Amino acid sequence: MPNKFSKYICQNCGSETSQYFGRCMNCKEWNSIIEEKKGQIPQNSFNNESSISKEFHDIQIKALKRINSGFKEFDRVLGGGFVHGSIVLLGGEPGIGKSTLILQSAAKISLLEKVLYVTAEESLEQIKIRWERLNQKSSHLKILAENNLFNIINEIQRLKPTLTIIDSIQAINNEEMESSSGSVSQVRSCSSELQNFAKKNNIALLIIGHVTKDGSLAGPKTLEHLVDVVLNFEGDHIASRRLLRGIKNRYGATLELGVFEMRENGLNEVNNPNSSFTNNENIAGVATTITLEGTRSFAVDIQALVNKSFYPNPKRTTTGISLNRVHQILAVIEKHIKIQLSSYDCYLATAGGFEINDPSSDLAIAISIISSLYNQIPIRNCAFIGELGLNGQVRQINLIDSKIDESIRLGFEQIIIPKVKNDKLNNIKNIKIIKVNNIQEAINIALKN
Ligand code: TYD
Ligand code: MG
Repeated sequence: MPNKFSKYICQNCGSETSQYFGRCMNCKEWNSIIEEKKGQIPQNSFNNESSISKEFHDIQIKALKRINSGFKEFDRVLGGGFVHGSIVLLGGEPGIGKSTLILQSAAKISLLEKVLYVTAEESLEQIKIRWERLNQKSSHLKILAENNLFNIINEIQRLKPTLTIIDSIQAINNEEMESSSGSVSQVRSCSSELQNFAKKNNIALLIIGHVTKDGSLAGPKTLEHLVDVVLNFEGDHIASRRLLRGIKNRYGATLELGVFEMRENGLNEVNNPNSSFTNNENIAGVATTITLEGTRSFAVDIQALVNKSFYPNPKRTTTGISLNRVHQILAVIEKHIKIQLSSYDCYLATAGGFEINDPSSDLAIAISIISSLYNQIPIRNCAFIGELGLNGQVRQINLIDSKIDESIRLGFEQIIIPKVKNDKLNNIKNIKIIKVNNIQEAINIALKN
């Protein structure tokens, strides 16, 4: 019998129903749904000042005060630093370097502000060992090894820091709840208690959460709509490059990207990251694109390996590129270039595992695939920009001027782009601009070697 004061939450994927089911309809996990009691709404709740509606001219805007994170790349993604009293969620796969980044940043912030670092996963000794490895200076940085929610809130109350870090939310436990730490209900209840306390006391709160791509650690994902800023720390575990990506930001531009490198002594900023995902090599199977991330363009090599398949279903794997996008591009090549790709395996990867979301990288993906298939080297020193339409046309893209500027800055001699009406492009002298209508034209020019 559904209870109107209860909701039922899947501990695996976080989906919510009004009734108990033995199996989650969303993620199909068995016995993952548990009941969560809703608070009853008071009948005559008292209206305080903040619960009275106002007109725009009565609303006062306070200037945003920010706390510099100590890293230019981090500040860029935050929109200039942590805003006082804001809630930031930092997600990423276990072991990617979240604790390392935040400990380094906390140390730098603590030279000017009071910082509390709550470690619920590691002991004080473990943090000290990491600390010595990172060779940092700090001043007002306090470490608390604790996983009980109420002890943590008591310590925040006692210390009144400017910034509190929770590492990680999955390890914190609210003893009033029956579920175990890390479950969706625990993650939600602990973070809402912490958020309410932090907002009331104007304390900036940074919540670290482990999130995996396959969704097996999805708890912190369910907090994304509640917090002010959502950041994701990503990269290839084997490569040293790490990317800090802004997913949501109530105080700055989203989709900004910060670039770091993991070394033996911690994370270092990459000062000129724009060209750090290209090797400038001219070999078969590699094509370079210029992708726009936030306000910055990056040159990224796309590598393809196309081999005769020995499987009944050809293998297609990707790193840094959406598999669906690749399936679509392969279908366009099959149909419009008349190449039978169904008997070939196709492996695609971006340099350094750079996660590409910009559709203008389609053309470089297609060129790299055909270049590998025919073992033909693309024309020298060329960047490829354009979205592939389903009918084989190369479609117009946004902000073409800034991508051309970036290719010139990075020393490309030529660039293949969609046919656009843009008079400004006629005056560009430092690069040869080749305009194409469709994929066939692009291949004829790119692989004429
Ligand atoms: P960590 O910050 O513990 O990851 P997370 O908090 O996201 O789980 O990072 C752990 C990895 O980083 C570990 O594999 C070792 C590596 N590392 C370095 O390469 N250099 C360093 O200076 C540190 C502290 C860690
Ligand atoms: Mg950690």
